[in-house]
Amino acid sequence: MLKHESIETNAGLLIVLTLVAISIGGLVEIVPLFYIKGTVEDVRKEDGTQAVRPYTPLEQLGRDIYTREGCYNCHSQMVRPFRDEALRYGHYSLAAESQYDHPFQWGSKRTGPDLARLGGKYSDAWHVQHLVRPKSVVPESIMPNYPWLLKDELDISNVQAKLTALKGVGVPYSLTTQEYDANVKNFGEDVAKKLVIANAETLIAEQVERANYDGNPAKLSEMDALVAYLQVLGTMIDFKKHDAAEFIEFR
Ligand code: HEC
Repeated sequence: MLKHESIETNAGLLIVLTLVAISIGGLVEIVPLFYIKGTVEDVRKEDGTQAVRPYTPLEQLGRDIYTREGCYNCHSQMVRPFRDEALRYGHYSLAAESQYDHPFQWGSKRTGPDLARLGGKYSDAWHVQHLVRPKSVVPESIMPNYPWLLKDELDISNVQAKLTALKGVGVPYSLTTQEYDANVKNFGEDVAKKLVIANAETLIAEQVERANYDGNPAKLSEMDALVAYLQVLGTMIDFKKHDAAEFIEFR
Protein backbone atom coordinates (compact mmCIF):
# COMPACT_ATOMS: atom_id res chain seq x y z
CA MET A 1 0.00 0.00 0.00
CA LEU A 2 1.45 3.36 -1.08
CA LYS A 3 1.66 5.64 1.93
CA HIS A 4 0.98 9.35 1.63
CA GLU A 5 4.26 9.95 3.37
CA SER A 6 6.20 8.20 0.60
CA ILE A 7 4.53 10.41 -2.02
CA GLU A 8 5.23 13.58 -0.08
CA THR A 9 8.86 12.75 0.51
CA ASN A 10 9.51 11.75 -3.10
CA ALA A 11 9.49 14.86 -5.31
CA GLY A 12 9.59 12.90 -8.59
CA LEU A 13 6.61 10.72 -7.68
CA LEU A 14 4.72 13.74 -6.34
CA ILE A 15 5.22 15.58 -9.66
CA VAL A 16 4.06 12.58 -11.71
CA LEU A 17 0.96 11.99 -9.59
CA THR A 18 0.15 15.74 -9.56
CA LEU A 19 0.32 15.78 -13.35
CA VAL A 20 -1.98 12.75 -13.55
CA ALA A 21 -4.52 14.41 -11.23
CA ILE A 22 -4.43 17.69 -13.17
CA SER A 23 -4.75 15.87 -16.50
CA ILE A 24 -7.89 14.08 -15.38
CA GLY A 25 -9.39 17.38 -14.23
CA GLY A 26 -8.38 19.01 -17.52
CA LEU A 27 -9.87 16.23 -19.65
CA VAL A 28 -13.16 16.36 -17.76
CA GLU A 29 -13.42 20.10 -18.43
CA ILE A 30 -12.01 20.32 -21.95
CA VAL A 31 -13.23 17.18 -23.77
CA PRO A 32 -16.97 17.99 -23.53
CA LEU A 33 -16.30 21.33 -25.26
CA PHE A 34 -15.51 19.44 -28.48
CA TYR A 35 -18.89 17.73 -28.43
CA ILE A 36 -21.26 20.63 -27.78
CA LYS A 37 -22.42 23.10 -30.39
CA GLY A 38 -21.60 26.17 -28.37
CA THR A 39 -21.40 27.62 -24.91
CA VAL A 40 -23.08 30.90 -25.81
CA GLU A 41 -26.80 30.74 -26.54
CA ASP A 42 -27.86 31.68 -30.06
CA VAL A 43 -30.75 33.99 -29.18
CA ARG A 44 -32.61 35.47 -32.12
CA LYS A 45 -35.45 37.90 -32.62
CA GLU A 46 -38.55 37.00 -34.58
CA ASP A 47 -37.01 38.35 -37.78
CA GLY A 48 -34.04 36.00 -37.37
CA THR A 49 -31.47 38.64 -36.37
CA GLN A 50 -29.34 38.40 -33.24
CA ALA A 51 -31.12 39.60 -30.10
CA VAL A 52 -27.96 40.67 -28.27
CA ARG A 53 -26.07 43.47 -29.98
CA PRO A 54 -22.90 45.35 -29.05
CA TYR A 55 -23.43 48.60 -27.14
CA THR A 56 -23.94 51.81 -29.11
CA PRO A 57 -20.98 54.22 -28.81
CA LEU A 58 -22.87 56.25 -26.15
CA GLU A 59 -23.76 53.16 -24.11
CA GLN A 60 -20.18 51.95 -24.35
CA LEU A 61 -18.84 55.26 -22.99
CA GLY A 62 -21.42 54.98 -20.21
CA ARG A 63 -20.10 51.55 -19.44
CA ASP A 64 -16.58 52.97 -19.19
CA ILE A 65 -17.88 55.47 -16.61
CA TYR A 66 -19.53 52.60 -14.73
CA THR A 67 -16.16 50.84 -14.46
CA ARG A 68 -14.27 54.10 -13.78
CA GLU A 69 -16.51 54.91 -10.81
CA GLY A 70 -16.21 51.37 -9.46
CA CYS A 71 -19.94 50.68 -9.44
CA TYR A 72 -19.01 46.98 -9.65
CA ASN A 73 -17.66 47.16 -6.11
CA CYS A 74 -21.24 47.16 -4.86
CA HIS A 75 -23.28 45.86 -7.80
CA SER A 76 -23.19 42.54 -9.63
CA GLN A 77 -24.58 42.05 -13.11
CA MET A 78 -25.55 38.42 -13.12
CA VAL A 79 -28.87 36.90 -12.12
CA ARG A 80 -28.07 33.38 -11.01
CA PRO A 81 -30.35 30.46 -11.95
CA PHE A 82 -32.04 30.21 -8.55
CA ARG A 83 -35.69 30.66 -7.74
CA ASP A 84 -35.18 33.53 -5.29
CA GLU A 85 -33.08 35.42 -7.82
CA ALA A 86 -35.62 34.88 -10.59
CA LEU A 87 -38.41 36.15 -8.32
CA ARG A 88 -36.47 39.27 -7.42
CA TYR A 89 -34.72 40.16 -10.67
CA GLY A 90 -36.27 38.16 -13.51
CA HIS A 91 -34.88 35.55 -15.90
CA TYR A 92 -31.39 34.34 -15.02
CA SER A 93 -28.57 35.86 -17.06
CA LEU A 94 -27.49 34.12 -20.24
CA ALA A 95 -23.89 33.94 -21.42
CA ALA A 96 -25.07 35.61 -24.63
CA GLU A 97 -26.01 38.73 -22.70
CA SER A 98 -22.45 39.52 -21.68
CA GLN A 99 -20.69 38.25 -24.80
CA TYR A 100 -19.72 41.80 -25.83
CA ASP A 101 -18.68 42.91 -22.34
CA HIS A 102 -14.95 43.53 -21.97
CA PRO A 103 -14.34 43.19 -19.09
CA PHE A 104 -17.54 41.46 -17.96
CA GLN A 105 -19.30 42.90 -14.92
CA TRP A 106 -20.73 39.70 -13.36
CA GLY A 107 -19.19 40.45 -10.00
CA SER A 108 -19.76 38.66 -6.73
CA LYS A 109 -20.34 41.56 -4.36
CA ARG A 110 -23.84 42.81 -3.75
CA THR A 111 -23.86 45.73 -1.35
CA GLY A 112 -26.55 47.11 -3.65
CA PRO A 113 -28.90 45.03 -5.82
CA ASP A 114 -27.95 43.19 -8.99
CA LEU A 115 -28.25 45.44 -12.04
CA ALA A 116 -28.34 42.85 -14.85
CA ARG A 117 -32.06 43.45 -15.47
CA LEU A 118 -32.16 47.15 -14.59
CA GLY A 119 -33.09 48.62 -17.99
CA GLY A 120 -36.57 50.14 -18.06
CA LYS A 121 -37.19 49.63 -14.33
CA TYR A 122 -36.97 53.36 -13.60
CA SER A 123 -37.27 56.55 -15.65
CA ASP A 124 -34.19 58.45 -16.83
CA ALA A 125 -35.09 61.26 -14.43
CA TRP A 126 -35.12 58.81 -11.51
CA HIS A 127 -31.61 57.63 -12.42
CA VAL A 128 -30.30 61.18 -12.67
CA GLN A 129 -31.70 62.10 -9.27
CA HIS A 130 -30.58 58.80 -7.73
CA LEU A 131 -27.02 59.11 -9.02
CA VAL A 132 -26.66 62.74 -7.93
CA ARG A 133 -27.93 61.90 -4.44
CA PRO A 134 -29.30 58.38 -3.83
CA LYS A 135 -30.81 59.39 -0.48
CA SER A 136 -33.14 61.83 -2.24
CA VAL A 137 -35.12 58.92 -3.70
CA VAL A 138 -34.17 56.03 -1.38
CA PRO A 139 -33.77 57.61 2.10
CA GLU A 140 -32.09 54.56 3.65
CA SER A 141 -29.55 54.25 0.82
CA ILE A 142 -25.84 53.98 1.59
CA MET A 143 -24.84 54.45 -2.06
CA PRO A 144 -22.40 57.36 -2.58
CA ASN A 145 -23.37 60.59 -4.40
CA TYR A 146 -22.03 61.09 -7.92
CA PRO A 147 -22.88 64.78 -8.59
CA TRP A 148 -20.00 65.33 -11.03
CA LEU A 149 -21.63 63.04 -13.59
CA LEU A 150 -24.12 65.81 -14.30
CA LYS A 151 -21.50 68.59 -14.31
CA ASP A 152 -18.73 66.92 -16.30
CA GLU A 153 -18.88 66.90 -20.05
CA LEU A 154 -18.60 63.53 -21.71
CA ASP A 155 -15.17 63.03 -23.25
CA ILE A 156 -15.77 61.64 -26.72
CA SER A 157 -12.32 62.45 -28.12
CA ASN A 158 -11.09 58.86 -28.05
CA VAL A 159 -14.33 57.00 -28.71
CA GLN A 160 -13.24 55.67 -32.10
CA ALA A 161 -10.02 54.29 -30.63
CA LYS A 162 -12.00 52.61 -27.85
CA LEU A 163 -14.41 50.95 -30.28
CA THR A 164 -11.51 49.84 -32.47
CA ALA A 165 -9.83 48.27 -29.45
CA LEU A 166 -13.06 46.41 -28.63
CA LYS A 167 -13.24 45.28 -32.23
CA GLY A 168 -9.77 43.83 -31.74
CA VAL A 169 -11.11 41.51 -29.04
CA GLY A 170 -14.07 40.38 -31.12
CA VAL A 171 -16.86 42.95 -30.68
CA PRO A 172 -18.30 43.42 -34.19
CA TYR A 173 -18.04 47.20 -34.64
CA SER A 174 -17.45 47.90 -38.31
CA LEU A 175 -14.62 49.67 -40.12
CA THR A 176 -15.07 48.30 -43.66
CA THR A 177 -18.19 47.97 -45.82
CA GLN A 178 -17.71 44.21 -45.69
CA GLU A 179 -17.95 44.27 -41.91
CA TYR A 180 -20.94 46.60 -42.15
CA ASP A 181 -22.72 44.19 -44.51
CA ALA A 182 -22.05 41.30 -42.15
CA ASN A 183 -23.61 43.34 -39.34
CA VAL A 184 -26.68 44.08 -41.46
CA LYS A 185 -27.09 40.35 -41.91
CA ASN A 186 -26.55 39.50 -38.24
CA PHE A 187 -28.26 42.40 -36.50
CA GLY A 188 -30.44 44.13 -39.10
CA GLU A 189 -29.81 47.49 -40.74
CA ASP A 190 -30.93 49.72 -37.86
CA VAL A 191 -28.45 48.15 -35.46
CA ALA A 192 -25.66 47.84 -38.03
CA LYS A 193 -25.77 51.61 -38.57
CA LYS A 194 -25.09 52.16 -34.88
CA LEU A 195 -21.95 50.04 -34.98
CA VAL A 196 -20.02 52.03 -37.60
CA ILE A 197 -16.85 53.23 -35.89
CA ALA A 198 -16.32 56.17 -38.26
CA ASN A 199 -19.73 57.59 -37.30
CA ALA A 200 -19.30 57.25 -33.54
CA GLU A 201 -19.46 60.98 -32.67
CA THR A 202 -22.55 61.58 -34.84
CA LEU A 203 -24.23 58.49 -33.38
CA ILE A 204 -23.63 59.78 -29.86
CA ALA A 205 -25.12 63.18 -30.71
CA GLU A 206 -28.14 61.55 -32.35
CA GLN A 207 -28.84 59.20 -29.45
CA VAL A 208 -28.60 61.98 -26.88
CA GLU A 209 -30.82 64.23 -28.96
CA ARG A 210 -33.43 61.49 -29.22
CA ALA A 211 -33.46 60.46 -25.59
CA ASN A 212 -32.03 63.43 -23.64
CA TYR A 213 -31.11 61.22 -20.68
CA ASP A 214 -29.85 63.89 -18.28
CA GLY A 215 -32.71 66.32 -18.93
CA ASN A 216 -30.43 69.04 -20.29
CA PRO A 217 -30.53 69.03 -24.11
CA ALA A 218 -27.81 71.69 -24.33
CA LYS A 219 -25.16 69.50 -22.76
CA LEU A 220 -23.56 66.14 -23.44
CA SER A 221 -22.74 65.03 -19.90
CA GLU A 222 -21.23 61.88 -18.44
CA MET A 223 -24.69 61.33 -16.96
CA ASP A 224 -26.16 61.01 -20.49
CA ALA A 225 -23.81 58.12 -21.23
CA LEU A 226 -24.17 56.33 -17.89
CA VAL A 227 -27.98 56.47 -17.93
CA ALA A 228 -28.05 55.28 -21.57
CA TYR A 229 -25.98 52.30 -20.45
CA LEU A 230 -28.07 51.56 -17.34
CA GLN A 231 -31.29 51.70 -19.37
CA VAL A 232 -30.15 49.05 -21.85
CA LEU A 233 -29.03 46.51 -19.24
CA GLY A 234 -30.92 43.24 -19.59
CA THR A 235 -33.36 44.56 -22.17
CA MET A 236 -31.99 43.03 -25.36
CA ILE A 237 -33.66 39.64 -25.02
CA ASP A 238 -37.44 39.57 -24.72
CA PHE A 239 -37.80 36.55 -22.43
CA LYS A 240 -41.57 36.49 -22.81
CA LYS A 241 -41.00 35.24 -26.34
CA HIS A 242 -38.75 32.36 -25.28
CA ASP A 243 -39.58 29.10 -23.61
CA ALA A 244 -37.42 28.64 -20.48
CA ALA A 245 -36.49 25.12 -21.59
CA GLU A 246 -34.81 26.61 -24.66
CA PHE A 247 -31.73 27.68 -22.68
CA ILE A 248 -31.44 24.74 -20.29
CA GLU A 249 -28.93 22.81 -22.36
CA PHE A 250 -26.42 25.60 -21.77
CA ARG A 251 -26.63 25.52 -17.98
C1 HEC B 1 -20.94 51.68 -1.65
C2 HEC B 1 -21.73 50.80 -2.48
C3 HEC B 1 -22.32 51.33 -3.77
C4 HEC B 1 -21.67 51.87 -4.85
C5 HEC B 1 -20.19 52.16 -5.01
C6 HEC B 1 -22.67 52.09 -5.85
N1 HEC B 1 -23.90 51.70 -5.39
FE1 HEC B 1 -25.63 51.70 -6.44
N2 HEC B 1 -26.63 51.03 -4.81
C7 HEC B 1 -26.06 50.74 -3.59
C8 HEC B 1 -27.11 50.38 -2.65
C9 HEC B 1 -26.90 49.99 -1.21
C10 HEC B 1 -28.34 50.46 -3.34
C11 HEC B 1 -29.75 50.23 -2.79
C12 HEC B 1 -30.33 51.55 -2.26
C13 HEC B 1 -30.60 52.52 -3.37
O1 HEC B 1 -31.44 52.24 -4.25
O2 HEC B 1 -29.96 53.60 -3.40
C14 HEC B 1 -28.00 50.87 -4.70
C15 HEC B 1 -28.91 51.03 -5.72
C16 HEC B 1 -28.60 51.32 -7.03
C17 HEC B 1 -29.56 51.37 -8.11
C18 HEC B 1 -31.04 51.03 -8.03
C19 HEC B 1 -31.21 49.57 -8.30
C20 HEC B 1 -32.61 49.04 -8.17
O3 HEC B 1 -32.91 48.05 -8.83
O4 HEC B 1 -33.39 49.62 -7.41
C21 HEC B 1 -28.86 51.72 -9.24
C22 HEC B 1 -29.42 51.92 -10.63
C23 HEC B 1 -27.49 51.92 -8.85
N3 HEC B 1 -27.35 51.65 -7.51
C24 HEC B 1 -26.49 52.29 -9.71
C25 HEC B 1 -25.18 52.53 -9.33
C26 HEC B 1 -24.17 53.06 -10.21
C27 HEC B 1 -24.36 53.39 -11.67
C28 HEC B 1 -23.03 53.19 -9.47
C29 HEC B 1 -21.71 53.77 -9.90
C30 HEC B 1 -21.74 55.12 -10.43
C31 HEC B 1 -23.33 52.70 -8.14
N4 HEC B 1 -24.64 52.32 -8.09
C32 HEC B 1 -22.41 52.63 -7.10
C33 HEC B 1 -24.72 50.73 -3.30
C34 HEC B 1 -23.73 51.23 -4.13
